[in-house]
Amino acid sequence: TRVAILYGGRSAEHDVSRLSAANVLKAIDRTRYEVMPIAISRSGKWLLQPSSEAAGDGAGAPVSEDGAEVALLPGGKGRLVAVPQGGVQPEVPPVEVVFPVLHGPFGEDGSVQGYAEVADVAYVGCGILASAAAMDKDVAKRLLREAGLGVARSVTLHRNDTHSFQEIAGALGLPFFAKPARQGSSFGVSKVDDRDGFEDAVATAFRYDGKALIEEFVDGREIECSVLQRADGSLTVSLPGEIIPAGKHGFYTYEAKYLDADGAVVRVPADVPATVADEARAMARQAFLALGCEAMARVDFFLRADGSLLVNEVNTLPGFTDISMYAKALAAIGIGYSQVIDVLIEHALA
Ligand code: DAL
Ligand code: MG
Repeated sequence: TRVAILYGGRSAEHDVSRLSAANVLKAIDRTRYEVMPIAISRSGKWLLQPSSEAAGDGAGAPVSEDGAEVALLPGGKGRLVAVPQGGVQPEVPPVEVVFPVLHGPFGEDGSVQGYAEVADVAYVGCGILASAAAMDKDVAKRLLREAGLGVARSVTLHRNDTHSFQEIAGALGLPFFAKPARQGSSFGVSKVDDRDGFEDAVATAFRYDGKALIEEFVDGREIECSVLQRADGSLTVSLPGEIIPAGKHGFYTYEAKYLDADGAVVRVPADVPATVADEARAMARQAFLALGCEAMARVDFFLRADGSLLVNEVNTLPGFTDISMYAKALAAIGIGYSQVIDVLIEHALA
C-alpha cells in the first residue's frame, strides 16, 4: 500500500508537524507500506521528498525543495501530477492513502480532508466536519456542552466586537485566558492576570484568527485520553495520561511544550483514582462521538480538586512528537506505535 505522509504545512504548527512526522516515518512498517513523504512548505507547496527516511535524533522530518512539486488530481483516486521542471514532467506513482500528519489550520481543520475527498482518495483521520468542528474551540464547546459534557466558561469575540475588561473579568473572574479560536500548540494563547495585560492578549489572539475565545482559568490538572477507532467502528479509549507543567511556565505554553526540555513532564497513566480514570474515558468517548470524530482523537481535560472533569479540547490530529501523549497513552495499554499506524491506515481504507 502506498501511503503519502503529509507534513509541515501552512499553519503556525509547521515545526510541530515535522517533529510528529519524523516519528511516524520512523514507526511506520515499511514491509507493509511504501512510504511517500510529501513536505508542505510554509507557503503551501506540496514537495515530494527525495528520501523516505526520517531524520533522526529528535530533528523534524526534512522539508527539501529538491523534490518535485506535486498535486492531487480531482477525481484522480490518488493520482498525483507533478509540476514540470525544466521541461521534464517527473513520473509520480499514485497513492492509495493520504496520511495528513499536519496540525492546525489547512491540515487539521478539514481543509486537506476536503481536498482528499475531492481527489477521491482515502485519508487517515477524521472527516471534514469533525476536523473543522474540533479545530474551532468556539464551535466545539457548543457541541460538547450540548452533549452534556462540562466545559470551561468562555466568551467568544469576533475581531470587530467591542469588548470590555470589566465585563469579561466580571463574568469569568481573574485570571483568564485569551485564545485564537482555531489554533493549536498554544500559539497565540495568553494568560491575563489584570487589566494591563488584557488588550495585548486579545490582540495576540487576533493575530492568529478573526475569532477569539476568552476563557475562564480552571484550577486543575491536565489529563488526556487517546481514542482510537478500528476499521469496524469500535473505539479503544486509553487510560488518561497527565501533563505536569514544570518550571517557570505559567501554563502549558508552546515553549513549555516543545522548546524547554524541562517544560513539562508527561505521566502515563496519570496518578488518579480509578473512578476519575473511568469518568475521563467515558467522557472522551462521548466527546469523540459528539464531534463526529472518526479514526483518532486526543481528548484533553481539566481535572479539578473536587474530582470533576471539564473537556478542554479535542485534537483530531494529535501530536506524534517525542513528548506527545497520543501514542504514549496507547502504548501504555499495549498498542504500540506501529500498530496505531496500521489501525489508522486500515480504518482509512475500510
Ligand atoms: N496541537 C498539538 C500538536 C497537539 O494537540 O498535540
Ligand atoms: Mg491542541
